[in-house]
Amino acid sequence: MQYDHIIQARFLERPNRFIARVELDGRTETVHVKNTGRCRELLTKGALVYLEKSDKAGRATAYDLVAVEKGKRLINMDSQAPNRAVGEWLPGGELFPGLVSVRPETVYGSSRFDFYLETTSEKIFMEVKGATLEEDGVVRFPDAPSDRAVKHVEELIRARKAGYRVFVLFVIQMENVRYFTPNYDTHREFGEALCRAAEAGVEILAYDCLVTADSMRINRPVPVKYTEDYEWLSRIPGPLLKWYDGNRRILPWREEPSPYRVWISEIMLQQTRVEAVKPYFEKFMEKLPDVKALAEADEDTLLKLWEGLGYYNRVRNLQKAAIQIQEEYGGQMPSEYEELLKLKGIGSYTAGAVASIAYGRAHPAVDGNVLRVAARLRRDGRPVSDPRVKAGVESALREIIPADRPGDFNQAMMELGACVCIPNGAPLCESCPLQELCRAHLEGEEQSYPGRAVKKPRTIEEKTVLVIRDGNRTAIRRRKNKGLLAGMYELPSMEGFHTAEEVAAYLAEKGMGLLQVRPLQEARHIFSHREWHMKGYMVRVDELDAGEQPEGWIYIEPWETREKYPIPSAFSAYKKYINVLECEAPEIDSREQ
Ligand code: ADE
Ligand code: SF4
Repeated sequence: MQYDHIIQARFLERPNRFIARVELDGRTETVHVKNTGRCRELLTKGALVYLEKSDKAGRATAYDLVAVEKGKRLINMDSQAPNRAVGEWLPGGELFPGLVSVRPETVYGSSRFDFYLETTSEKIFMEVKGATLEEDGVVRFPDAPSDRAVKHVEELIRARKAGYRVFVLFVIQMENVRYFTPNYDTHREFGEALCRAAEAGVEILAYDCLVTADSMRINRPVPVKYTEDYEWLSRIPGPLLKWYDGNRRILPWREEPSPYRVWISEIMLQQTRVEAVKPYFEKFMEKLPDVKALAEADEDTLLKLWEGLGYYNRVRNLQKAAIQIQEEYGGQMPSEYEELLKLKGIGSYTAGAVASIAYGRAHPAVDGNVLRVAARLRRDGRPVSDPRVKAGVESALREIIPADRPGDFNQAMMELGACVCIPNGAPLCESCPLQELCRAHLEGEEQSYPGRAVKKPRTIEEKTVLVIRDGNRTAIRRRKNKGLLAGMYELPSMEGFHTAEEVAAYLAEKGMGLLQVRPLQEARHIFSHREWHMKGYMVRVDELDAGEQPEGWIYIEPWETREKYPIPSAFSAYKKYINVLECEAPEIDSREQ
């Protein structure tokens, strides 16, 4: 579709829907606006506009405003252009091969549709709607409430029920957009009518257009997303990313997001808070700066680097995955989500985080923070421990994650959950960029979401922990290779609570010459599924390696626990007695999974 006489002007103001004032050749000219919609974001003062010389004689205005420049886009806003462009395009047969007739403006019952078409085998009605409202590549319709549009959709449903093939074709009067969606904000009924139409078998299509100053042609199909949930979710990225840009924390792995660094940091962050992870991360990078170093590290180094983070299987899996990367991927972490998932210890969260943050791939990374935010946004009362909830959030986010900033989007969701939509206590909704979208907040029920699962109580294990020392050395032993704290070194202990006399008898039986048994404080350590309740004793012996040796015990110098024998934080309360002269730094916060 071609215009004959196009000239350029600058938009000044729009006194009413039908006219605009523009600056043309240094004077102010009043022109006709062919699109009577709001077009607020298009017609801004100073915008470059294109005018067509009006061909109708005797009109008050000599020009029609037909196109406007918005950023880098040229947007056609001539309300007659879509029908004309479709009329020219249909006979080409791209949409309907075998088209035998095209009739515009055809009456059906009490209504009139834009096109009636026949192919060799079908009778088709089509209604065309031009769309000009665009934001971040998302096109919405209508840009103002339109009862007429709803009425048209209802009539199309009737035609469909009568056996016609029926189409609504949204003509997007610009190029290069991401998808089309009904505008539930301006007119909920239209979106609902469109959903009903789709259910009734009306086919809903959208095409973008190649727009120049003096032409507009139908170009390519554009995805249509007509459900409200999608529409509503898709409004999250804009304000969220804007907030993130102004509020993101500076974190070592963020500033230099190599795949290896992102991977290690994300595994650590599954254990504990961001602040607590920082020193661990720096130390890990210093000792094991790349996949190769990790693959080749000895176990004690690994465990030592993880000491205090808890859940040692994670670091063992890190190493197994590093070996896999060395052997199967030539030492380079894979960039494909599906390949990442094949690595030991990498699930959908970590694969999504590495793929998006390090490689810019559009995959969601849904952790506990994101699940909480999503539950509140959607007022979803199901417990987030239900894997179906996580799968649902992943697939919803997969639809809306911005392709140009997937890593930032994922991190922004996590950051929001960690800093604003916080887990314990009231979330800080006044500072939340999503407050206007958040259904829980709108209802004032933020803290009722997510729902809580009924928890199985943890098993409680009672034990008596022994700090057995001679002059300088302490006895430790290695735990079994399976189960809780597998393969870690620990202080010897006895099952159950015991008196000093019972401890003395137990050790005497092992042939130790006791000097003193002194009670220490009681302690607790909480794992995800069990709790240790501990009593402790300091046991002084004459000489540790005299007499018969209990199997698997070793005797270490104080400095060795720091350097060589990592002892899990479950024993924090007693570690300080390994060397009374040494003032241990306080344990870093740890949270067993
Ligand atoms: N929690 C886990 N990973 C995170 C990240 N990359 N940014 C912020 N919080 C996180
Ligand atoms: Fe969370 Fe409040 Fe934001 Fe909703 S508005 S996402 S409850 S912080």
